[in-house]
Amino acid sequence: MDSNILRGHTENFVLSLLSDKDMYGYEMLEEIKKKTNDKFAIKKITLYKTLERLEKAECIVSYYDQDGDSKGGKRKYFEITDEGRKKIKEDIYEWNETKEILELFIIDSSHVIIGDNVLYYDEVTSTNDLAKEFAQEKIAEGSCVIADTQKKGRGRLNRNWYDQKGKVIAMSIVLYPKTDLKDLSKITQVAAAGVFETLKQYGVVAKIKWPNDILIKGKKICGILVESALKDNEVEYIVIGIGLNLNLDLELVPEDLKLASLNVEIGKEINKDEFILNLFNNLTIYYNQFLKGGNAFTDICRENSYLIGKEAYIKVNGKSYKVEIVDISTNGELLVRNEYGQIETYVQTEVTLEDNY
Ligand code: BTN
Repeated sequence: MDSNILRGHTENFVLSLLSDKDMYGYEMLEEIKKKTNDKFAIKKITLYKTLERLEKAECIVSYYDQDGDSKGGKRKYFEITDEGRKKIKEDIYEWNETKEILELFIIDSSHVIIGDNVLYYDEVTSTNDLAKEFAQEKIAEGSCVIADTQKKGRGRLNRNWYDQKGKVIAMSIVLYPKTDLKDLSKITQVAAAGVFETLKQYGVVAKIKWPNDILIKGKKICGILVESALKDNEVEYIVIGIGLNLNLDLELVPEDLKLASLNVEIGKEINKDEFILNLFNNLTIYYNQFLKGGNAFTDICRENSYLIGKEAYIKVNGKSYKVEIVDISTNGELLVRNEYGQIETYVQTEVTLEDNY
């Protein structure tokens, strides 16, 4: 089918929604679910591209709401212009016809959609801390807190997370998986696979350093911090924190941090909103696979592992041991060969190439 026809239909769909009232992006996504009796959901990236095109063509304008929510988060809403209203009049499609065409690029609405509800902040202490507060208040699953800068961004083992305002992605996603506790560590792999695939869309093939780092040529471009709360031996909530260096000025970064940044890798500034939506899309795919018992995300972590085949150091009960990294099992555990030649299995352990604990 001619892609211009598809474009015409999504544009028309958005314009007809906005001709009734101004709307947030997430309301438009909900509206299509309603119109298809909860059977379908439009992909967020498709909606975003459509909104971007309509804004460029001056058919709509967007604003951030002034007041924000109780914690100061701001959301973008969209308004139709006279130009947009003229376009609808010229180009009316029946809803049924639009629906048929939309079905070509919509997804099963039983999926948890990551990033349906996004809360943006200029400055926070840590997006993970805020996301945890929202999780306790039972915010919708898949909601995401994003900040331009964090005053106390945290890494694993309470390390500081490096930040240049607006130049990194700092996001935290709230999830409520009904899962066995033994599978919880796979969530880090879900996130790692999502980040890996998104970087690949930009032509960068990274390495995944088990359990939570994404590296380019040995330097860190992304770190993942998964935190969870348990109640009566069940998962109450999970927060996936992702810190990704998108447009860093590497000249300002201390050498010893050994950081990489996507803009430097591909030689141009990266559009942050677009990257985030691509990332949401990939995280949605792997998280829903996880919920359905799949493990393609583990395969991605194994096939692109930074560590497999290398000698490394792991820390057990405060003591560091030299091992050979052998594999990642289909269950997502790290398999290592100890100094006696025996294979040991780890679920969440810190691994380094140098004995620098
Ligand atoms: C690590 O490399 O040890 C994990 C780094 C995780 C950093 C992210 S940035 C967004 C979220 N908020 C935080 O305070 N930490 C995570």
